[in-house]
Amino acid sequence: MTQMPAPFAIAEDGVDPALVPQKTLWTGARMPAIGLGTFGSDRFSSEQIAEAVLGAASVGYRHFDCAKIYGNEHMIGASLEAIQAGGLARKDMWVTSKLWNDKHDPADVMPTFKESLRDLRLDYLDLYLIHWPFPNHHAAGVDVTSRAANAKPYIHDEFMATWRELEKLVDLGLVRHIGTSNMTIAKLKLLLRDARIKPACNEMELHPCFQQPDLYKFVVDAGIVPIGFAPIGSPTRPDRDRTEDDAVDIEDPIIVAIAKRLGVHPATVCVKWAVQRGQVPIPFSIYRNEYLSNLRAAVSEPLTDAEMRAIAGIDRNSRLIKGQVFLWKEGQSWEDLWDLDGTIAQ
Ligand SMILES: NC(=O)c1ccc[n+]([C@@H]2O[C@H](COP(=O)([O-])OP(=O)(O)OC[C@H]3O[C@@H](n4cnc5c(N)ncnc54)[C@H](OP(=O)(O)O)[C@@H]3O)[C@@H](O)[C@H]2O)c1
Repeated sequence: MTQMPAPFAIAEDGVDPALVPQKTLWTGARMPAIGLGTFGSDRFSSEQIAEAVLGAASVGYRHFDCAKIYGNEHMIGASLEAIQAGGLARKDMWVTSKLWNDKHDPADVMPTFKESLRDLRLDYLDLYLIHWPFPNHHAAGVDVTSRAANAKPYIHDEFMATWRELEKLVDLGLVRHIGTSNMTIAKLKLLLRDARIKPACNEMELHPCFQQPDLYKFVVDAGIVPIGFAPIGSPTRPDRDRTEDDAVDIEDPIIVAIAKRLGVHPATVCVKWAVQRGQVPIPFSIYRNEYLSNLRAAVSEPLTDAEMRAIAGIDRNSRLIKGQVFLWKEGQSWEDLWDLDGTIAQ
């Protein structure tokens, strides 16, 4: 007789996933309003991140933000398999992956997607995103002045050809939702005009010192759920991604004062603000105390209206992940990637 796996138990000090807020997508599907980031940057091994996925599931996380370029989906897959073997149903997990910039060619989409699916040991994904709107690859860890030899600007027809392949993945039942990341209002307008299947989510940098109010409003008004990356202000990102003017969210006096009132780390105030504002934060940590505190932030005492207003006032338009390596010609500034005047730079 086949032995039934033990039911997946939540750690005694964990969070009941039923208490974690959910966001409803335009399809009617519901996604957990907080997920675990899995980009270890240069600091952590795939094994450490896979272990964090397992640990995070055991304290109540049900949403995992993955990507091919993070180089660890093969290890995370083993954790996802173990979680399911432990009795957690696939339908109770939310798994996202992303198509990297060197695989925008329509012929590459299906095989690349299938590699992620195989590595993650799943037979469908909940969400598949185009990681960046530019097909410009760069090798891991390169300096911000590095440029791909064949780098190009955003070319809408080419982006749509990639999008059509994502739509086919939905038609085939291989992915439940498709979406974008690092988009701008100008680019999203074109996509919304031309898509047969509308994006369900847009992943974008969002933290108290970078609130992107216009893009945020545009996305929400369009019925797209914003997923916020670097929700804590990515305090341990590599030096190559830092400039002198970058704000440090967890040192902001308003954030620090609220953290004192609640007796928590400022990082968790950022997470709490994100969930309460309405975006889906995907904080990263491999440390149990940190990822557990981040999840608790989503279910514990909310910030007061006055605190929410005070945090709304600390936006400094401080973009941290500027994307310089995706520029396509000499003499450009990283601002050219972000269509600040409402037109798509060529
Ligand atoms: N779509 C995209 O283009 C894109 C871009 C960037 C990131 N992402 C996604 O977003 C995720 C999160 O972004 P991120 O890792 O750059 O930034 P983040 O989540 O803002 O910051 C992560 C860092 O914050 C610290 N931290 C986390 N929880 C903490 C806590 N409770 N107390 C104290 N410190 C805490 C950790 O530092 P220590 O490790 O030192 O403890 C951790 O490394 C990534 O993992 C990835 O999945 C997507």
